[in-house]
Amino acid sequence: MVNTLDVSFVEKGPWKPDIFKGKVVLVTGGSGTICRVQTEAMVLFGAQAAVVSRNKAKTIATAEELTQLSSYGHVLPLGGVDVRNFGQLQKAVMETVEHFGRIDYVIAGAAGNFIADFAHLSPNAFKSVIDIDLLGSFNTVKACFRELVKTKGSVVFVSATLHYSGVPFQSHVGAAKAGIDALSNALAVELGPLGIRCNCIAPGPIAGTEGMKRLLPAELESKAAEQIPLQRMGTTKDIAECTVYLFSSASSFINGTAIAVDGGAWHIGSTFSRNMYPKRLLDSINSKL
Ligand code: COA
Repeated sequence: MVNTLDVSFVEKGPWKPDIFKGKVVLVTGGSGTICRVQTEAMVLFGAQAAVVSRNKAKTIATAEELTQLSSYGHVLPLGGVDVRNFGQLQKAVMETVEHFGRIDYVIAGAAGNFIADFAHLSPNAFKSVIDIDLLGSFNTVKACFRELVKTKGSVVFVSATLHYSGVPFQSHVGAAKAGIDALSNALAVELGPLGIRCNCIAPGPIAGTEGMKRLLPAELESKAAEQIPLQRMGTTKDIAECTVYLFSSASSFINGTAIAVDGGAWHIGSTFSRNMYPKRLLDSINSKL
């Protein structure tokens, strides 16, 4: 994978260069499409970054590519870390602090997703996604907590819009993301007095992401775009812009909210549901009965 953003993101965008100079961001799931572009944006605006992911080789490759965007040294790869394992996350945080001296921002983005209707979803499959998304988000903030207290830092959780309605084949992900929203809201209230802000970004239909590849067959993409109020699919750059906003001082009074980056799509219901409901759902369930 190559970097999605380049210096034009800084030069042509609304933000001042170097707004994150001297700051450090830790990103879980940083080698996935969404979190990776969030990290790109932070690095382009001067932050130093630690990328935490499960796959070691992919994490190293990602960090090397991201380093090319950085004017302030290399991006730290922390591979072999499963967010379900609190001890591994604690070690990643320790290494980040040893390396960069601080953590100001956290992106809790590690996620698991696959398409499965209820009949095909085992208890362990459901638990796996809840554990990666929800427990993993909790573990991430828990492990970074002391550092965030020191820096009066800020957390961005990567949520979704799936749970705003009932999206078929996604009960596990919807439940996990609803939990993330609840966690973010509670932490915004509990940690706000310490100067720590917690917010969610809820990506809608973003072209080219791993999630979209799983949810929407490529041939339906242009039809899906027509059904979005802003008449286009989202881009990873849209997510990057929102991330910069949420970590910048422009959002210093924004706490405990979820920003849907979806062109207004969730207000008219899920495209995914419309294309699959109920025939494809019933075909799938019946194949198991
Ligand atoms: N449909 C139904 N069940 C599935 C499935 C699918 N497509 N894929 C996995 N599962 C089930 C497995 O069968 C297993 O359940 P079982 O023990 O009852 O058989 C359970 O999920 C756990 O699978 P496993 O592969 O052991 O878990 P894992 O922890 O290694 O992987 C996943 C987690 C399943 C979420 C995997 O898809 C993953 O690692 N995804 C990461 C990347 C990703 O999803 N990115 C997209 C982010 S939007």
